[in-house]
Amino acid sequence: MGTKLDGLIKSEKDVTQIVLSSFEDTSDPRLKEIMASLVTHLHAFLLETRPTEKEFEASLRWIASLGHNTNSANNEVVLAADVLGASTLIDIMNNDGGKGETMSALLGPFYRGGAPDCEAGDDIARSAQAGDPLFFSGRVMDLDGTPIAGASVDVWQASPVGFYENQDATQDDFNLRGKFTSDAEGHYSFRSVKPSGYPVPTDGPVGDLLRAQERRPFRPAHVHFIVSAPGHKTLITQVFSDSHKALVEDVVFGAKEAIIGDFISHTGPDPDYPGIEGEFYSCKFDFKLVEGTPTFPIPPISGKVED
Ligand code: BEZ
Ligand code: FE
Repeated sequence: MGTKLDGLIKSEKDVTQIVLSSFEDTSDPRLKEIMASLVTHLHAFLLETRPTEKEFEASLRWIASLGHNTNSANNEVVLAADVLGASTLIDIMNNDGGKGETMSALLGPFYRGGAPDCEAGDDIARSAQAGDPLFFSGRVMDLDGTPIAGASVDVWQASPVGFYENQDATQDDFNLRGKFTSDAEGHYSFRSVKPSGYPVPTDGPVGDLLRAQERRPFRPAHVHFIVSAPGHKTLITQVFSDSHKALVEDVVFGAKEAIIGDFISHTGPDPDYPGIEGEFYSCKFDFKLVEGTPTFPIPPISGKVED
C-alpha cells in the first residue's frame, strides 16, 4: 500500500534529496554550498561503491583512529589528507605559481612553529649526528627580481637517518629547525646536514591503509621552507634533493620539477666555503614571492610526544 506522507524516505533514491532539504535554512552561504556538495558527492560515492555494513563500520573506525593517533608530535589527520593527495590538490588549487612566484609544496604534519631565531650562516644541526654538511643559501625576491630585505625564512628538515626531531628522542629540541631573516640584498644562508628520504609514519591507521594498498611509504629527500614578508603572500614549499624515481614515488605527491634544488657535491676544500674539510654539499635556491597578504599556518604539531 502506498503512502502520501511527503518528506519521508521510501527508497535509497530519496535519501540524498531529503538530507539536502534539511540543510535549506543554513544562513552561511559558503557552509551551505560546501555541505550540499559534500553530501551530494558522498552519497553518489556510496551508491556507486555500495559498501557493506561491515565495510562502513570499518571505515568509521579508521576515521576515528586518525584522531586517536593524533597527539603533540604526530598529526595522523594531516598525514591521511597527504597520502590521499588532498593536501597537494588543495595546495596547487590555491598556489599555482602562475604569476612566476616559486612553486609551493604541502606543509606536511611535522611543522611545529616556534623555531629559534638564527643569524645568517648559523648551523641548524643542533645535535651531533652523522651526515654530510650542507651549505644552503639564496635570495628572497619579488617577481621582478627586486630583493626583499627582512623576509622570514623558516626552515625544517629530517635528519640524515630520516627522522624529524620530534620523532626521535636522540635529537635535541628544535634540531634541524631554525628561522632566518634575509639581509638588505635579500640573501639568506644557513648550514645544515644533507637530508635523506624517509618513510612517513606507518604505525597508525595511515600505515595500515598504505600496507593494504601495497604502497611504498617514502618521501624523497627535501628541506621545508616557509618564506614570508610584509606585503607578500606567504610561500610554503620544499626544496627537493633526490632521484627522479624517488620524486615520482613520493607517497604524498609533493615533488614538483620547479622546486628541485641543485645539491652540489664538494669533495675537497673550496675557497667559497672556508674551513670545511671532507665531503660536503651546497645548494643555492632563490625564492620569488608574489604580492599579497601574509598568512601563517597553524602548526599541525606542537613538539615531542607528551609523557
Ligand atoms: C613532510 O614532508 O614532512 C611530510 C609530508 C607529508 C607527510 C609526511 C611528512
Ligand atoms: Fe618533510
